[in-house]
Amino acid sequence: MSLKTLLLAAAVLVAPAEIDVTPWYGRSIYFIVVDRFAKDFSDTDPQCGLVDDGTAKSWCGGTIKGIIRKLDYIKEMGFDAIWITPIVKQTDWTDNYNGTAYHGYWAQDFNDIDPHFGTKDDVKRLSAECKKRGMLYMQDIVANHVGPLHDLTQVSRLAAPLNDPSGRQFNTYGIQPGMSFEDYLKMPPREAYVNIPDPYTGKIKYSCWTGNYSCFPEYSEEIIEKGWFGDLGDLNHWNETVAEYLLDWIARMQKDYDIDGFRLDTAGYIPQSFLSRFQQAAGVYMIGEVVTYNISYHQSYQHHLLGMLNFPIALQWTPFPENEMSNDVWNSVGSFNKFNELMDLQLKSNYTDFDLLGNFIDNHDTTRFAYSHKNDQIALENALTFVFMMPGLPILYYGTENPGVSAHLEERRSMWMTMPQFGRGDPEPFEKTRLFYFIQRLNGIRKLWGLGHGGDAVHHPLKVVLASKHIYAFARGNLLVMVTDGGSGTTAPTCIDRQDLPSRLDAGCDSEGIHDVLGGTNYRKGAVAECFPLRVCVQLDGSHPAILAARDDRPSQVGFMVAALFGDEFPEGRNSLIALGVGSFGVAATILSFWAHNKYSNSDHEGFLLTH
Ligand SMILES: *[C@@H]1O[C@H](CO)[C@@H](O)[C@H](O)[C@H]1NC(C)=O
Ligand SMILES: *[C@@H]1O[C@H](CO)[C@@H](O)[C@H](O)[C@H]1NC(C)=O
Ligand SMILES: *[C@@H]1O[C@H](CO)[C@@H](O)[C@H](O)[C@H]1NC(C)=O
Ligand SMILES: *[C@@H]1O[C@H](CO)[C@@H](O)[C@H](O)[C@H]1NC(C)=O
Ligand SMILES: *[C@@H]1O[C@H](CO)[C@@H](O)[C@H](O)[C@H]1NC(C)=O
Repeated sequence: MSLKTLLLAAAVLVAPAEIDVTPWYGRSIYFIVVDRFAKDFSDTDPQCGLVDDGTAKSWCGGTIKGIIRKLDYIKEMGFDAIWITPIVKQTDWTDNYNGTAYHGYWAQDFNDIDPHFGTKDDVKRLSAECKKRGMLYMQDIVANHVGPLHDLTQVSRLAAPLNDPSGRQFNTYGIQPGMSFEDYLKMPPREAYVNIPDPYTGKIKYSCWTGNYSCFPEYSEEIIEKGWFGDLGDLNHWNETVAEYLLDWIARMQKDYDIDGFRLDTAGYIPQSFLSRFQQAAGVYMIGEVVTYNISYHQSYQHHLLGMLNFPIALQWTPFPENEMSNDVWNSVGSFNKFNELMDLQLKSNYTDFDLLGNFIDNHDTTRFAYSHKNDQIALENALTFVFMMPGLPILYYGTENPGVSAHLEERRSMWMTMPQFGRGDPEPFEKTRLFYFIQRLNGIRKLWGLGHGGDAVHHPLKVVLASKHIYAFARGNLLVMVTDGGSGTTAPTCIDRQDLPSRLDAGCDSEGIHDVLGGTNYRKGAVAECFPLRVCVQLDGSHPAILAARDDRPSQVGFMVAALFGDEFPEGRNSLIALGVGSFGVAATILSFWAHNKYSNSDHEGFLLTH
């Protein structure tokens, strides 16, 4: 037995330490592309990240310091975690399409920070500033590949030990007999998502999604794991030098910057045996990207990583490159009946923990939801309501709250170009749009009704009570959530058996009645619910979503919530505050709750507070 085998054997005998995931339950995450979110200082060039001015693939100048400046904005929207794109040192050369590494997914040196984004001290400060605000810091990382590689000079410029000219640190799937690594690097442009070269010609043969076993007859996990992702140098995780480099890096990065969690890019292309070791070395919650429709394939990864981004659900309505939306329930083409079958399939499958899945409507690789839905605000409201109220962690892609960013084709527009007061001093606030307040309200409801971090209903599952063509309704905690396909215009009253309601809501029918805590704001009227002995019938406000609660359930906090949401920034909101105060609980209760809040609130007592 060699020393190495001995050490490996010893490592296997030591039971892996339990990783504490409790800090993540119920968190609401705001996802940022660092280069495109916020700059250190204002400048006079707002135009960046646009397809039509050729800057879509260029560096735009967003920084870590810029993010720190906007943490209060993010927190005010109700988020208690951020996920930021990778910040390690990037390749300074382009790919075959003149693309730069502005997005952060092309590492050159894993142990350094890219100067475009800032310094090591900036990262430490970001981490500390998050903690100061009760927010968690999730860092995006790539462990499947490095940046684009076309020749040995580029290989030599990678950090050691990844710079070996032998190329044994990389997978060379499909290399022909007698072909050198140098020649392998020159193979025809790798245009596929996964490079699956024909073993005889070296040309690209297939482009497949992970987990699609019917994509072609030879589909195998070996091809997925060893084929290159475009022209990006595919790391050989079976090589222990490479494995140890990555394990050492992730453990060190977590400690150096006190990182609360990681988002693992292209996890589906990494062997699962390595993923388990990587998760363990990180020591904190890690959420993986496995883009697939295949639920059984998807769940298998949660036996290696603690969290998974919920692609099987989001892909129903998300137009990914080269993919059709399979069941877009937010535009009246799709069907909630069919959607519910998928939800059911997911709930019955063998995920290790549904409450650690990350849910989203779109991301930086998809067309933005608003753009693909013709900037239909009602569709956006419905989709967001669903994603924020279902079990798991809701994730909002930066700019979704601002049509100046989200209503456009290019999905990585700079956020600062939307600022109406651009160039008028530093720091300029981001505009607080109507959607900003809508999202704030969703986050607020999550917290008030215990679905947010530390809440008593975080682990409550979703119970579907209605899945018709146009309406999807489910109970969660003490709430009834109703979403629609948005395109159906005014919906007829929808009735639900009272026996299907959460008991608190059912009891509300017999006491004070039930009401819509999502609608009923100054900008729209909200749903109206009427209780009958056996049923409750709900007239939605057009096709807007609704969240129903018993009127006497957490009323004083609702008063506070409305005040917090619409108090100062939103002048008309005062009227709705007063109306709600008078109509529902009395002005006194509202004032009392205000007073109580100011007197007793502290940042550890999250249950009642929205934007502390
Ligand atoms: C990349 O840029 C060069 C120089 O501007 C240009 O000649 C070439 O056509 C570009 N290639 C692609 C794929 O856009
Ligand atoms: C693993 O990769 C390193 C380069 O990082 C190389 O020197 C070594 O020979 C490789 N090991 C094997 C077994 O191929
Ligand atoms: C799987 O691949 C086949 C062949 O490319 C394609 O027709 C099919 O739509 C894919 N299935 C999914 C769910 O992506
Ligand atoms: C889904 O993935 C599993 C492996 O996890 C595989 O056996 C099955 O064939 C895949 N289904 C499809 C439709 O590709
Ligand atoms: C479900 O996962 C557990 C491990 O978490 C495993 O022991 C069990 O065999 C799996 N069940 C099925 C049906 O795959």
